[in-house]
Amino acid sequence: MDQLFATRASRMKASEIRELLKLLDQPGIISFAGGIPDPALFPASEFAQAFQLALGPKYQSQALQYSVSEGYVPLRQWLADHMKQIGVSCGIDNILITSGSQQALDYLGKLFLSPSDTALVGWPTYLGALAAFNAYEPRFDRLSINGNRRAAEYRAGTGDIKFAYLSPDFANPTGETVDLRSREALLNLAEELDCAVIEDGAYQALRYDGDPIPPILALEISRKQSIEKCRTIYCGSFSKTLSPGLRVGWVVAAKPVISQLVLMKQAADLHSATINQMAVHRVAEACFETHIPMLRQVYRSRRDAMLAALDQFMPEGVQWTKPEGGMFVWVTLPKGMDGSTLLLRALATVKVAFVPGQAFFPDETGANNLRLSFSNSDEKTIQEGIQRLGEVLRM
Ligand SMILES: Cc1ncc(COP(=O)(O)O)c(C=O)c1O
Repeated sequence: MDQLFATRASRMKASEIRELLKLLDQPGIISFAGGIPDPALFPASEFAQAFQLALGPKYQSQALQYSVSEGYVPLRQWLADHMKQIGVSCGIDNILITSGSQQALDYLGKLFLSPSDTALVGWPTYLGALAAFNAYEPRFDRLSINGNRRAAEYRAGTGDIKFAYLSPDFANPTGETVDLRSREALLNLAEELDCAVIEDGAYQALRYDGDPIPPILALEISRKQSIEKCRTIYCGSFSKTLSPGLRVGWVVAAKPVISQLVLMKQAADLHSATINQMAVHRVAEACFETHIPMLRQVYRSRRDAMLAALDQFMPEGVQWTKPEGGMFVWVTLPKGMDGSTLLLRALATVKVAFVPGQAFFPDETGANNLRLSFSNSDEKTIQEGIQRLGEVLRM
């Protein structure tokens, strides 16, 4: 049968690392692998009420019915206000609701990439973005986040450069944040290259210290005075703040981009689940303002516990990032060490899991990196897990 598959299918292979991660499903493992929210922090009773209301006599026929592809209007209205609060002034016609921001990444790949076009991405970058774009058979080139690679150098590569993709706040996997100067430099580069910017704001709300930096889209709007003139496309998500299981994300962009994405959504799944959008709207309206500070407090303390444990237990020569938010710390081991081999050893000897760094690089370099997530373990477990990891590294 495989000979019948389209050429793109051959690029969509399960990575070795994903196979390795299947080993994690064992009891007693301390896992720093999954970049997922702590389920104990879900606003579950608020969702229970919201679903009950949606299924009650007043809303049930709407909640269980087909709805418009653009998304549930009150949710888009809430999002327009939310985006304004973080500096992005836009109307509801600039917003499309997607089934998680992952769907937005797939649609954007579909919209921009013909085979052999170039996508600029961080080296490393979010594994799911690589997987989404990869299906459209692009080439990947290295986006220099701090702006020290010139436009001419990018142009020297093969393929039309279609977009630069990055997650400027507390990126997955590095936890790093792009500073204001580099965001401006990135916009200058996109102008020179005449390419789009895909800004992935999945972790944007989860800042634990330092001052917020305006989204790249906000900076571009203040340059051009209108979102309609902007080349930046912002992807947001409720997955890290309210619930990933409901699959509600959004895209903010100039109207012509949104119109094209709506056509894609019509072809793909018509619309995201109506009832989920209604529930997310109710819960966001009822408790987003109080829920986010609570999440920040809990995750900040876990981040602090992980950084303190790394300081205490990592051997000489190991380095790591100090994220101001998000869910990840990125560890660099001395050259020559291999994260996948270390994972197998750590699982077998001390029952600690993490994601080896290789998966986050388009060319599968970065073997001496690890991604550790602190979001889903309490402080004591983090301390214990990092101590054990230190022991394996010393073996
Ligand atoms: C940087 C980044 N973008 C997007 C996503 C996709 O999230 P969702 O589709 O749940 O919104 C994730 C999930 O881990 C992520 O880390």
